[in-house]
Amino acid sequence: MKDLFGKALLDFQNGNYTEDIITSTSISGDDELPLPYLFRNFKEMPKLEQKALQLAKGKTLDVGCGAGSHSLYLQDKNINVKAIDISKGAIEVAKQRGVQQTEVKALLDENDTFDTILLLMNGTGIFQEASQVSKYLSHLKSLLNANGQILIDSSDIKYMYEDEDGGFWIDTNAEYYGELDYYLSYKGVEETPMKWLYLDFNNLKMTCESLDLNCELILEGEHFDYLARISKKH
Ligand SMILES: C[S@@+](CC[C@H](N)C(=O)[O-])C[C@H]1O[C@@H](n2cnc3c(N)ncnc32)[C@H](O)[C@@H]1O
Repeated sequence: MKDLFGKALLDFQNGNYTEDIITSTSISGDDELPLPYLFRNFKEMPKLEQKALQLAKGKTLDVGCGAGSHSLYLQDKNINVKAIDISKGAIEVAKQRGVQQTEVKALLDENDTFDTILLLMNGTGIFQEASQVSKYLSHLKSLLNANGQILIDSSDIKYMYEDEDGGFWIDTNAEYYGELDYYLSYKGVEETPMKWLYLDFNNLKMTCESLDLNCELILEGEHFDYLARISKKH
């Protein structure tokens, strides 16, 4: 990984904002990811994220924190929050912005326990592939204190396969339709391609059930997106 995402965040943080990140996927063309969006404040966040932040309580882990916008909000509310990310640049930015507990760390390497675990801005993306959902969720379960909760958002991207006649062109022999190859470039340099998973609520819930976890639909967004709360069964 060249950490172009982190480099872009650092540029913005240091006043060197000249262009946005360009993303594309195996089923969609170029799209801009505006850097200011990654530095959003509470008011600028989507309703699903605002709701997740309102529900957060106790010792909290912000997984894939990026520039640390969610962590900063919680810290201001006197919530004990730790922010982790695999991007060195992102963690550097989160630190510079004032997030007190930060670590360059992958989710599967975390082993402390928490009352709230946040995975926001398509939190299931970090699971990468449908075949890994169970592994990631059981790891997340192992990080939960009694009565702890995981707050995660994602989208059902079936609509992206709809043609003009309202039919769908999903290849039923292929992997799960929400499993995408994700390409990112910044200032003309291309990042190593990665996998990024969009997981519909029913699939998330089914895997939770198989792991003896509750999965509750908290809020639906305006475009097939949702916020879910996952907790241990008693
Ligand atoms: C879409 S960004 C979201 C950033 C931030 N949560 C936000 O809402 O602005 C996803 C973040 O997850 C991080 N990430 C990807 N895989 C990860 C993993 N296995 N463990 C921790 N962080 C990861 C990426 O480096 C990136 O910063």
